[in-house]
Amino acid sequence: MKAVFRNFISFLSFLVKVFGEKHYQGYFDFVGFITSPQLSSVINEFHQKSLFECSSECLLNENCYIFDFCENGSSISCYFYHYDFASTSDVESGACRRYELKQACTSGYTSPCRCPKNEGFERCNYNTDCSRNMSGKNKTSHNFYRKFPNKEVKEMWCEMEIDNGGWIVFQRRVDGTTDFYRGWEEYENGFGVLANNFYMGNYYLHELVKSGDYELRIELEDQAGERAYAGYTNFTIGGPSISYMLNVSGFHGNASDSLDYHSGMMFTTFDRDNDEKSSNCAVANKGAWWHKTCHFSNLNGQYGIDNATGIIWYHWRGYYHSLNGTRMMVRKKIE
Ligand SMILES: *[C@@H]1O[C@H](CO)[C@@H](O)[C@H](O)[C@H]1NC(C)=O
Ligand SMILES: *[C@@H]1O[C@H](CO)[C@@H](O)[C@H](O)[C@H]1NC(C)=O
Ligand SMILES: *[C@@H]1O[C@H](CO)[C@@H](O)[C@H](O)[C@H]1NC(C)=O
Ligand SMILES: *[C@@H]1O[C@H](CO)[C@@H](O)[C@H](O)[C@H]1NC(C)=O
Ligand SMILES: *[C@@H]1O[C@H](CO)[C@@H](O)[C@H](O)[C@H]1NC(C)=O
Ligand SMILES: *[C@@H]1O[C@H](CO)[C@@H](O)[C@H](O)[C@H]1NC(C)=O
Ligand SMILES: *[C@@H]1O[C@H](CO)[C@@H](O)[C@H](O)[C@H]1NC(C)=O
Ligand SMILES: *[C@@H]1O[C@H](CO)[C@@H](O)[C@H](O)[C@H]1NC(C)=O
Repeated sequence: MKAVFRNFISFLSFLVKVFGEKHYQGYFDFVGFITSPQLSSVINEFHQKSLFECSSECLLNENCYIFDFCENGSSISCYFYHYDFASTSDVESGACRRYELKQACTSGYTSPCRCPKNEGFERCNYNTDCSRNMSGKNKTSHNFYRKFPNKEVKEMWCEMEIDNGGWIVFQRRVDGTTDFYRGWEEYENGFGVLANNFYMGNYYLHELVKSGDYELRIELEDQAGERAYAGYTNFTIGGPSISYMLNVSGFHGNASDSLDYHSGMMFTTFDRDNDEKSSNCAVANKGAWWHKTCHFSNLNGQYGIDNATGIIWYHWRGYYHSLNGTRMMVRKKIE
């Protein structure tokens, strides 16, 4: 009787182990074979550990997003990589099998968020997120990283000081040291640096906001250092097939509305004319924007030029006052 019971218990623990193992490995996708590990990118390695042990070690290592499990005769090794490692696998078979961490949060805006939801392996208790609800977290503005479908990892700025925080900044002007008169591809992929002047890129902006309901906030600073803002309750950016069409509605704020006029317009650069004028508005106004015929706002215009080719928000400071500073930011709405 006792033996039967003991066997039953060990059978149970066997079940738990097997189930637990499957569950644990369920955090990874097998992505294919490679012939040998890319040693220059390896952040950690282990030898003579099973696949299960390697996946466990990777899951426990907050920098590990990808690992290779390599078998070479009787020697077994696994190699860990960070998420900024450009992972590929293009051979049919090879000594190593590559695994990537499934990122439970990729559909949201917290990626790369490692948050296996149980077993104490919660990884989201550090700031990789830009959320208004930072309860239990550090409420200061911070940068974070997000991986996109094209496999690029972008560094982003999360603004926590304005209107309860949770804003992802996608455009910033602080001085004239960065040229904003650029073509379609650069506005698609982004340019500049987060710490001063930058544009995130229309591809990334679209990918960011397509997954949910977002609001827009634009912060402006004039030449005297006075500030004003324009908020829009609804904000969408279409994909590349509709040339990153802007739609906004629900203006609020104290800068007056100079963007609703542009709602429904596609993006125009000097080398891609999508505006409603026969000539190219980006050329005439030296600024890439969602031009119509042409603009009431031109925040990618020229720094320090006090006419319509400058950084203009017409309904606040008119066409002859180029603003000293701008920030454009988006936030996921809380339902
Ligand atoms: C396998 O082991 C042999 C002998 O140690 C070594 O020469 C070879 O490079 C190894 N191959 C891989 C893919 O690690
Ligand atoms: C904020 O997050 C905490 C912990 O994650 C949760 O308990 C709380 O309900 C959230 N608050 C809101 C307003 O979503
Ligand atoms: C919050 O983060 C900032 C910058 O990373 C740091 O200087 C500050 O000490 C942190 N505060 C707390 C309470 O952790
Ligand atoms: C705004 O920029 C102009 C020209 O670059 C500069 O002279 C002025 O001091 C700046 N104003 C503020 C408040 O920084
Ligand atoms: C607009 O509102 C902001 C935030 O409340 C304030 O800092 C700013 O001074 C206001 N600007 C104007 C022009 O009223
Ligand atoms: C914003 O969008 C929502 C949902 O599409 C809609 O119900 C609401 O009326 C819009 N608000 C404004 C101010 O246009
Ligand atoms: C944006 O505005 C255009 C023009 O009004 C309209 O045709 C289009 O359906 C809108 N798109 C979205 C996503 O609201
Ligand atoms: C805007 O100002 C610049 C610099 O003063 C000048 O070169 C340009 O011709 C002006 N453009 C327009 C449209 O007035």
